[in-house]
Amino acid sequence: MAVRTADQTAIDEAGRLLRSGALVAFPTETVYGLGADATNGQAVAGIFETKGRPRFNPLIVHVPDLASAERLAVLSARARKLAHAFWPGPLTLVLTRRPDSGLSDLVSAGLDSVAIRIPAHPIARALLAAAERPLAAPSANRSGRVSPTLARHVHEDLGERPAMILDGGATAHGLESTVVDATGDATVTLLRPGAVPREAIEAVLGTALSSGPESDDVHPSSPGQLASHYAPNAAMRLDARDIRPGEALLAFGSPVPATEGSSINLSPAGDLVEAAAGLFAALRALDATGARTIAVMPIPEHGLGEAINDRLRRAAAPRP
Ligand code: TXA
Ligand code: MG
Repeated sequence: MAVRTADQTAIDEAGRLLRSGALVAFPTETVYGLGADATNGQAVAGIFETKGRPRFNPLIVHVPDLASAERLAVLSARARKLAHAFWPGPLTLVLTRRPDSGLSDLVSAGLDSVAIRIPAHPIARALLAAAERPLAAPSANRSGRVSPTLARHVHEDLGERPAMILDGGATAHGLESTVVDATGDATVTLLRPGAVPREAIEAVLGTALSSGPESDDVHPSSPGQLASHYAPNAAMRLDARDIRPGEALLAFGSPVPATEGSSINLSPAGDLVEAAAGLFAALRALDATGARTIAVMPIPEHGLGEAINDRLRRAAAPRP
């Protein structure tokens, strides 16, 4: 069994595995990542193969500190401001890649930019120290599925394919990092809403984030933002104010419509932070009941609600 409690012995072994080109799944404060040495093209190719991920969808590179980020990419004044405010933490900056970065070209999927983040989770940080390499790490799920917030979810999706799955318990935010394009000096563009709310970033910048082009499956604003993603087996019915026969209920706040079917309340108190943390595990659990449809109560669009609703809309989108 590839799942190991993330003590120092396991982390040191995971570091050696990464240096030898193997894949290791590990917890971050957002979701679990599937890591590989970002400078090793074969190892990075293994990520795409293991996830069934299209090669045009670039990866996030995780580094331990700002100096490491600056060796890989160019930070504009605005990018540096964001880095100081939110790193380590769940913000990913898309930056202009340095020609001498040493990163595998596959990481950027042929773009001249690279997405970088400094994770805050102590196990992710210990692993970066043990590996002594920048780590490319997408969410550790099969492409198109819900991101894992527990080591068990990684094992359900990827089985024994990672050489090791480091178990650090449930992830704190439960949503992926917010991704912004900070390659230009004039504007910063929101590519993927995530664990850092838009309002917090705009407060630091002192200006509104630009939203970029509307994304669709042909022209994604960020290559990974395909309309259908996070897809459970069940169909999804959003903004549900009642329950129909045979539906499972994903509730938020109270009161909740009465149901005899399975039901999970993301936050009876209507707290978006709590709702985000439990969202993906709840989707997995309701899907596992075999319900044909998951009815989802309305969730407000402010703060983390923007990212929660983004994931729910993708889960509800027509499947390719
Ligand atoms: O919280 C997270 O971000 C997690 C943890 C493991 O760090 N990682 C994650 O990675 O969610 P992934 O691969 O599932 O999502 C990365 C997103 C994708 O939408 C991808 O298209 C976008 O970032 N991205 C990566 N590099 C990019 C680039 N150079 N330009 C534009 N978008 C990029
Ligand atoms: Mg992902």
